[in-house]
Amino acid sequence: MYVTRLASRDYRNLREGEIFPCQGVNVIYGGNAQGKTNLLESLWLFTGGHSFRGSKDSELPRLDPATGKNGPGAALELEFHSEGRDQEAKLFIENGRRSSVINGVKKKTGSALMGKVRAVIFSPEHLLLIKEGPARRRSFLDGALCQIKPSYAALLNAYRRALLQRNALLKDLSRFPDLLDTLEIWDQRLAKLGSQVMEERKKYTERISPDIQMVYSGIARGQEQVFVSYSPSVGLGESIEEMEENFLKELIRTRASDSRSGFTSAGPHRDDLDITINGASARAYGSQGQQRSAVLAMKLAEAQALSGYAGEAPIVLLDDVMSELDQHRQDYLLNHLHGRQVFITCCSPDTVGLMETGMRFQVENGVVTPISV
Ligand SMILES: Nc1ncnc2c1ncn2[C@@H]1O[C@H](COP(=O)(O)OP(=O)(O)OP(=O)(O)O)[C@@H](O)[C@H]1O
Ligand SMILES: [Mg+2]
Repeated sequence: MYVTRLASRDYRNLREGEIFPCQGVNVIYGGNAQGKTNLLESLWLFTGGHSFRGSKDSELPRLDPATGKNGPGAALELEFHSEGRDQEAKLFIENGRRSSVINGVKKKTGSALMGKVRAVIFSPEHLLLIKEGPARRRSFLDGALCQIKPSYAALLNAYRRALLQRNALLKDLSRFPDLLDTLEIWDQRLAKLGSQVMEERKKYTERISPDIQMVYSGIARGQEQVFVSYSPSVGLGESIEEMEENFLKELIRTRASDSRSGFTSAGPHRDDLDITINGASARAYGSQGQQRSAVLAMKLAEAQALSGYAGEAPIVLLDDVMSELDQHRQDYLLNHLHGRQVFITCCSPDTVGLMETGMRFQVENGVVTPISV
């Protein structure tokens, strides 16, 4: 899919204006605090998700310089090509609430747009995918799986509820030993649901792993190798039944210590992804540029997986990705991401000069202007 027009009114510092991006690479450049990330964020909101910066909806309308308070509302319009036809969507943010219009049909929420516009976002915040603990990596898997397979969200929720129940029971077990029978029932439920979660995460990781390697190799010109593998806290086994059996055995084995801590120590809620570059842990040994390249490769592989599912490539939004990447790596992002629409923000006009084909936009104090190549 690709966007043909984006218009904004009173969205953050973006003044009233519109842009007509190309189907390939669109570079948005300008100094700090001019509105580049705001532009990407406004596009991202059409996926139906929340601001990737964690902002509240009430913070998005333009601040009134006289009062220092947010104005009453912001409006965004998107024209795009998807599912073989031209479509349009509008998004209104008024009094802290979002509403939308999709192809002329009014919707009460912004999330009603979900599934219409698909995008993958990389922002500097995503570097935490490598730098921080496993929770971020589980979210990386779960976020993609929920988009690809809506039933996965229900499965994950059921698992989380079962886990809460088991943890509550564990805490009561020392005072009420009769609860052991009930605990056994929850163990079985947890093992059943948990093995399904692990199976989905394992399959997804196996699916994207070759793409991650391929993209990384492109970025690093074949000089380095990244490897991403699923690392569950419970032995996997050959089949889902074997996984369920392994998980149940582990729950029984750790029951005594779990009841002392009041917490279930094994299961998909402790899963991780192993990410290595040239055989060494990316988190412990990767350079800034290597870590950035690895996260980019993971995000672009996610886009590839979404393409397979939706039958068309999602839009790729890359915020501030160029810093810390050498010229060859920048060249890859600007000139070698074919078959998808890309929006890249950067500060330096030198970076823009590396682009062979595509469109460039300059952002200055909330005004976006196309610059002829
Ligand atoms: N609701 C709002 N109303 C008006 N201005 C806002 C609002 N929210 C944020 N801003 C301002 O918008 C400006 C641009 O922010 P943005 O994050 O898009 O900058 P940027 O061009 O990406 O800069 P950098 O290169 O530093 O990342 C900032 O000065 C910020 O304070
Ligand atoms: Mg920015």
